[in-house]
Amino acid sequence: MLFSNMLTGLAFLAAGTTLATDLAQHVDVLKGTQNGGNDFPGAARPFGMVKSGPDLLLPGTDAYAGYLSDGEFSGFSLMHEQGTGGAPKYGTVSQLPLMCHVDDPLSNITVPRAKTDSDSVGYYQAHTAEGVEVELSASTRAGIYRYTFPQGSDEVKNVLVDISHVLPSSRGQELGQRYEGGNLSVFADGHYEGHGICNNGRNEAPNWAIFFCGYFESNATSNKTFVAVGADPSVEQTDRSVTLNAETKRIGAHSTFNTEEVLSRVGISWISSEQACRKVNKEIPQGTTFAAVVDEAKAEWSDKVLSKIKTTSTNEKSLSLLYTSLDFMHLIPTNSTGENPGWHSAGPYYQDIFTFCDLFRCRTALMQVLQPAAYEEQIRSLVDIWRHDGYLPDARSSNYNGRTQGGSNADNILADAYVNGVRGAVNYEGAYQAMVKDAEVVPSNIPSTIWHQTRPTHQGRGALPDWLELGYITPKFSWAISGAVEFAANDFGLFEVAAGLGKEPDAAKYLNRSRNWRNHWNPKQSSLGGYWGDPYYEANSWVYSWADVHDMKYIVTLMGGSETVVRRLDTMFTEGAKGSSGTIFDAANKSMFNIPYLYNYVGHPELSVRQSRQVAKHTFSTGPKGLPGNSDAAGAMQTWLLWNMIGLGVPVNGKVWTKSWLTWEDVFAEGGLFEFRLGAQPIQWATGELPPSPASE
Ligand SMILES: *[C@@H]1O[C@H](CO)[C@@H](O)[C@H](O)[C@H]1NC(C)=O
Ligand SMILES: *[C@@H]1O[C@H](CO)[C@@H](O)[C@H](O)[C@H]1NC(C)=O
Ligand SMILES: *[C@@H]1O[C@H](CO)[C@@H](O)[C@H](O)[C@H]1NC(C)=O
Ligand SMILES: *[C@@H]1O[C@H](CO)[C@@H](O)[C@H](O)[C@H]1NC(C)=O
Ligand SMILES: *[C@@H]1O[C@H](CO)[C@@H](O)[C@H](O)[C@H]1NC(C)=O
Ligand SMILES: *[C@@H]1O[C@H](CO)[C@@H](O)[C@H](O)[C@H]1NC(C)=O
Ligand SMILES: *[C@@H]1O[C@H](CO)[C@@H](O)[C@H](O)[C@H]1NC(C)=O
Repeated sequence: MLFSNMLTGLAFLAAGTTLATDLAQHVDVLKGTQNGGNDFPGAARPFGMVKSGPDLLLPGTDAYAGYLSDGEFSGFSLMHEQGTGGAPKYGTVSQLPLMCHVDDPLSNITVPRAKTDSDSVGYYQAHTAEGVEVELSASTRAGIYRYTFPQGSDEVKNVLVDISHVLPSSRGQELGQRYEGGNLSVFADGHYEGHGICNNGRNEAPNWAIFFCGYFESNATSNKTFVAVGADPSVEQTDRSVTLNAETKRIGAHSTFNTEEVLSRVGISWISSEQACRKVNKEIPQGTTFAAVVDEAKAEWSDKVLSKIKTTSTNEKSLSLLYTSLDFMHLIPTNSTGENPGWHSAGPYYQDIFTFCDLFRCRTALMQVLQPAAYEEQIRSLVDIWRHDGYLPDARSSNYNGRTQGGSNADNILADAYVNGVRGAVNYEGAYQAMVKDAEVVPSNIPSTIWHQTRPTHQGRGALPDWLELGYITPKFSWAISGAVEFAANDFGLFEVAAGLGKEPDAAKYLNRSRNWRNHWNPKQSSLGGYWGDPYYEANSWVYSWADVHDMKYIVTLMGGSETVVRRLDTMFTEGAKGSSGTIFDAANKSMFNIPYLYNYVGHPELSVRQSRQVAKHTFSTGPKGLPGNSDAAGAMQTWLLWNMIGLGVPVNGKVWTKSWLTWEDVFAEGGLFEFRLGAQPIQWATGELPPSPASE
């Protein structure tokens, strides 16, 4: 597929190359944190389990990644998601610095902000209205806090540890996280260990436990633990170890200091507090300076992520868009290898997948190009999750698969990985069995609290009974049409892997099934159709009629030929065509990502270039409001922009290229060279074969 080009002279570099310039300076960490982007601005490492950042409380507003530009601090916690919609997740394992005597530490204390927070790659800084400076940095499984209390103050200097701290939700969809208990011990040397149990959030997860182990580098003058008991809201000070029992509601501790600077190191684990202690003592050993952790974080981002793409551009806006997008696409999934609490496995374990429904469109392909080693681990982890947990995930977090939005889109990802040559230790026989499970076995219906779903949404394909029996989906199931076009694409994924593994009968069966989207085609449809309400998820019939590109030639025929297709695509980008201001095409809807590129299928690459450049230039910008919608989540939005900025072009490997598309082998498999020459006038240069439509006879 052809992509337009915004930066010139841009090239992929070999792994490990360091650049003289500090690429991290171009990363705008607060980009996309407002306007619904829900980006996480705090301190983290690439794919790190710890994402340390502020948690803001503003009644009526959900803080998806903890951060809000407004509100009061409820804590500074080690776990966050990046860029999700739906409802907040995590905000767990927190500390909050407090001046003054605290009578009831478990009363949802918040502290106003003194001034705007500031940050850079691997570093976050905030100031509370009580005059405390809070600085955060992180290794992969531990965080470091530096508190600077106001000089000469006689007020008591406390750090509060509230085990019940989570990010709340006020959206009224019953997706809010709940704290269910835990335990906490403070030891003679002042360090603390324990775990908290929570549930719910974006993926409607059952109870999960997170373990922690925290150290203070200054000696406390006192430390106290607290429990809130039963229906009686009063808080009692206890002996040093507390465990939740049926009557206990909440647990917390605070340590009091008389030094102006207090450093704290805290590790986390899904397995045990001993493992959390091992991680923090290995990654941030006692005596490590705060600055050393920040420097290491910056160096890791530069070496492992930012230096992967180089450009000769000196335009600061382009540089900021490029390196900021690269940064945000590497925050999740989190590498939780060795931390899967449900089973023992030597294999890699990645979670915080948000969400394959969004990511298969352009994020996973770019991850393979930029991070082949990590991507091979991510693919193996999917197969391991199916093997031990029963199904492939679509949006796994807190060790729970849920929840799906359309098809079983891990199938598309495994198929892409197979076709594009991800090999290493991936077991494709296992991967294929996992895909067959999605395609053939109806998942059990775990009731969802939202949207009055009439099909299972936890994993697999909820509307499968109709698909298997009828070859289409009736309105008995929610989101019937958007589900059907995705199931067809998923089945095409099964065809590709079955064909590659020599399973001919299966390949024929799934290729046939991949055409079942056609059963939903209504030649008389003339209006836009519904939005969000049934039968379309997050878009309408205009959008979903373009979804099954594996059968594009047939789509072109159904639509009445190439010229009608061009007119219809043009309509998607025509201001006012939807009857109100704006265009039908909306870059905030991931289901539309492919639409600007479809002109290539009717021999008009120059129109794809025009539309995609237009969208990239006018809907993305720098700054906190720079994203047109949810990042979704591990950078679906950012990678759409990156592919546009990178631009893939002609000639290829020095040869004249007349096709507006490429295969993996053409340039990526062994490395290769694109030379993109951009002229002042659009030209229709693609005279060669059109992009393939394997499902169209
Ligand atoms: C604290 O916040 C939780 C969750 O938002 C709420 O259920 C609880 O009532 C609050 N407690 C107090 C003492 O305000
Ligand atoms: C903190 O708590 C531990 C565990 O009970 C205790 O041994 C230690 O003396 C306490 N430190 C102070 C300063 O009170
Ligand atoms: C903390 O207390 C221990 C034991 O009393 C002492 O050895 C150590 O030097 C103290 N550390 C600091 C930073 O004051
Ligand atoms: C806290 O919970 C862990 C895990 O269940 C358990 O091993 C430990 O004994 C508990 N600690 C206390 C003080 O109850
Ligand atoms: C993921 O984590 C494991 C365990 O810490 C580590 O061995 C592996 O190298 C990590 N993968 C990447 C891509 O960093
Ligand atoms: C393809 O599907 C149609 C119905 O959708 C069915 O009649 C036909 O037998 C199938 N062919 C194969 C090869 O499975
Ligand atoms: C795209 O999604 C946004 C919300 O993310 C919504 O406001 C808009 O109406 C959607 N556009 C279409 C054409 O469905």
